[in-house]
Amino acid sequence: MPESRLAIVPGSFDPLTNGHVDIIERAGRLFDRVVVAVLVNAGKQPLFGVDDRVAIIREVFAGQAQLEVDTFDGLLVDYARQRQAVAIVKGLRSVSDFDYESQMALMNRHLRPDVETLFLMPNERYSYVSSRLVKEVAALGGSIDDLVPPVVAARFSRRRLEARTQKV
Ligand code: PNS
Repeated sequence: MPESRLAIVPGSFDPLTNGHVDIIERAGRLFDRVVVAVLVNAGKQPLFGVDDRVAIIREVFAGQAQLEVDTFDGLLVDYARQRQAVAIVKGLRSVSDFDYESQMALMNRHLRPDVETLFLMPNERYSYVSSRLVKEVAALGGSIDDLVPPVVAARFSRRRLEARTQKV
């Protein structure tokens, strides 16, 4: 039997967007197993805690046995090697992503030449969707329903409700 090929889709996923979902699904069609690896942001102050981010992704991909959700800290290439991944999969929305992403991919190659980075383009309808903008739109009262999975939109609604109740 041929060995199973595992890919890692890393990210902060703060929060998971429809663009992330699109990339994870595409990776799932290319590899035998996919690990969605959530960065434990030691430096950054995420909106959602790491347990929450993991729970959201697990809920969205529930029932997909070839997909695993895990956390990592430290160097991504060390994690990739530890998991015996054949590739790191990243989403590339536009030319502006390329600058930063190519730098990271080449740094990762410098650190571990055996770990390959693969860029996938999401559906163009997600080309402007980012976690940062989703948070900004939600914080300013805009609708994010078309930008994130329903479970994520529900978390934002719950947070808004909690914030309102605390004020009363
Ligand atoms: O969703 P993000 O925030 O764009 O994901 C960035 C991520 C997690 C892929 C990147 O920050 C990362 O790989 N961090 C791990 C630390 C690391 O390996 N740094 C050296 C890479 S150049």
